[in-house]
Amino acid sequence: MRKPFIAGNWKMNTDRATAVELATAVARQADQLNNVELAVCPPSIYLDAVATALSHSGVALGAQNMYHEPSGAFTGELSAAMLLDIGCRYVILGHSERRHLLGETDQDVNRKLHAALAAGLTPIVCVGEQLQQREAGQTRQVIQQQFTGSLAGLSPQDAAGIVIAYEPVWAIGTGKVATPQQAQEVHLDLRKLLADRYNIDVADAVRIQYGGSVKPDNAAELLAQPDIDGALVGGASLEADSFLAIAGAA
Ligand code: 13P
Repeated sequence: MRKPFIAGNWKMNTDRATAVELATAVARQADQLNNVELAVCPPSIYLDAVATALSHSGVALGAQNMYHEPSGAFTGELSAAMLLDIGCRYVILGHSERRHLLGETDQDVNRKLHAALAAGLTPIVCVGEQLQQREAGQTRQVIQQQFTGSLAGLSPQDAAGIVIAYEPVWAIGTGKVATPQQAQEVHLDLRKLLADRYNIDVADAVRIQYGGSVKPDNAAELLAQPDIDGALVGGASLEADSFLAIAGAA
């Protein structure tokens, strides 16, 4: 049985004080939630402060990105070991904003994925089609391509430990959520890809989150789908109450 996993991607939001306040509020109320795993992914500059706010809580810490090299002359970048050192358990890889605004490729995501796993971080690998791709009937093809490229060279053992996030680009920050049926269809495709590429145990083990305008009022219906195992929440994770209401729906 896959434990539902709700993660908040704060993106480039908050300041130090609000990051600590938000993490503290989430940590305080998280104890009341059973059978759901929670994580927050603040801007990297606040990871340390948020780690302190989350200590002694069951809420995990995640980063929004990393670089694939272990160390060296890579100005401005952070390694997997640094993220681990500061208390991260998770790292988001290949978010659509990094793919489409910052030019990250499947190959970049793949390198980061291997480095994250080698260091002991759990990657949350994002995939998702753009609006014109969906309208052109290319969703399945795009997802398959991102899946294959991003996960290249992964062993079944490593694959079983990752998290995948399906985030249709047209649903991110737009208030235009995928219908539970649209999301379930892609999640099922992803699970079939895992079964074909690896085996049924891997397909059963991997948690696939949905992301894109998840709010307290649409979370329950999405999370009720058999292949939706959680949510990667953007805007609604910036308020403790709405984030926890989504977690409560899981
Ligand atoms: P929104 O929930 O703001 O649409 O963002 C989703 C997302 O990109 C999470 O990674």
